[in-house]
Amino acid sequence: MKIMTIILAAGKGTRMRSELPKVLHQIANRPLLQHVYDTAKQLENNTVKIVVGHGAELVTEALKGLDAEWVEQKQQLGTGHAVQQVSDLHSTSSGQTGIEDSDTVLILYGDVPLLKLATVKLLISNVDDQSLALLTVNLANPAGYGRIVRNPAGQVAKIVEEKDATVSEKQINEVNTGIMAVQGKQLKKWLSRLNNSNVQGEYYLTDVIEMAVADRINVVTSQPETEDEVLGVNNRIQLSHLERVYQQEQANCLMEQGVTLKDPARFDQRGTIESLGQDIEIDINVILEGKNSIGSNVKIGANTQIKNSIIGDHVEILANCVIEDAVIGQGSRIGPYARLRPDSVLGQDVHIGNFVEIKKSSVAAGSKINHLSYIGDTTVGSKVNIGAGTITCNYDGVNKFRTVIEDGAFIGSDSQLIAPVTIGKNATIGAGSTITKDSPENQLTLSRAKQVSLAGWQRPVKKES
Ligand code: UD1
Ligand code: CA
Repeated sequence: MKIMTIILAAGKGTRMRSELPKVLHQIANRPLLQHVYDTAKQLENNTVKIVVGHGAELVTEALKGLDAEWVEQKQQLGTGHAVQQVSDLHSTSSGQTGIEDSDTVLILYGDVPLLKLATVKLLISNVDDQSLALLTVNLANPAGYGRIVRNPAGQVAKIVEEKDATVSEKQINEVNTGIMAVQGKQLKKWLSRLNNSNVQGEYYLTDVIEMAVADRINVVTSQPETEDEVLGVNNRIQLSHLERVYQQEQANCLMEQGVTLKDPARFDQRGTIESLGQDIEIDINVILEGKNSIGSNVKIGANTQIKNSIIGDHVEILANCVIEDAVIGQGSRIGPYARLRPDSVLGQDVHIGNFVEIKKSSVAAGSKINHLSYIGDTTVGSKVNIGAGTITCNYDGVNKFRTVIEDGAFIGSDSQLIAPVTIGKNATIGAGSTITKDSPENQLTLSRAKQVSLAGWQRPVKKES
């Protein structure tokens, strides 16, 4: 079976009150349209067409990496008109192909992001040349939706839009989700017969249902597992609701895999987890972004943000850390209040303490940088101890230079290492030094004015007026 998925995404989204086209608003840092596409893409033997209109340029630019064909609907004359743009393609010179007779056409909405693959598969399994598949849902409050009108035998007769509905039709709780699957040959026939004689003056895709019934095609309905799957985003309140639904699902998935979340309602994953150990404990307000890997027995403290990083086994990250593009070796302890900037690579059992910033630096096994330091463009060997307030001066205002601190070195507190500079193996730097030249192995190096004490010196006293 060959599937053609058509994602409708040409609508304006006025109620978002935004310059950004609605389908580019995000859930978990991923545009709504991308969520729909990613689900569709999991179907085998499937080509995806996306109908765009409002903000078409912005949408196609933002999502140019998608393996989909973009079809423009210049005027938004209704959902039926949107699908017609795809079926009319064969008559244009674009080189794109329209709907083929043998295609199973799946209609999705670009602003309904949480639809599940299983629901789509069930829907598609109901299609054949005698049957059209329609996804419906029963809503306590059906206002605004098209209603599913059934005959006395319980078979679907038609869909009536809210604005065209009679008082008694408005009482119906079963509504059209808009999502359907239908054989190409039939769809094309019905599309060519659509008209816009309704209250909104639009070409309604939903009118094909009545045509199918007239042609003695079965309309087979199925339902999603949860209502949230078929909820659309029309405003930012609905967007925030679906964000929470999505986050709760991800949280559940992590907990099922052996992660303790102190409060799943205060956890956000905006990206993917490439590999995940067990017995991971995550405190509140943690945000995982991009692609992360987390080993076993890891603890992550409150209010920590981790992006595109690899965290080894038995790592402890204390509260309020910001970690990006970093690798943290097994058994290391980070924070509280530490910042690991891109290209920070820490070996095993490294300690990075409070108010320490690391950038583009490697720190080998067993080294400690525990308080108030900036380490940038530096290679730190193993078992190095860097005292409080140490700063690598890597930037002269124009160029950046590297600092090398070899194994076993001890840097006294409040030192500045002016790069390029090398501190030799087991060297000791006296506290308060400004180091401008390479410091030899095993020796004490310090640059410090000699301390003097003045005997007989007296404090000034206030003059009498
Ligand atoms: C549509 C259905 C309604 C259903 C509801 C579910 C029709 C006539 N009605 O109503 O039965 O209950 O969805 O949410 O189909 N779009 C285009 N081009 C257009 C018009 C719409 O691409 O010319 C896209 C929109 O961007 C959106 C989707 O189609 O993603 C639905 O459009 P919308 O205007 O929200 O349809 P409703 O009137 O809500
Ligand atoms: Ca709508």
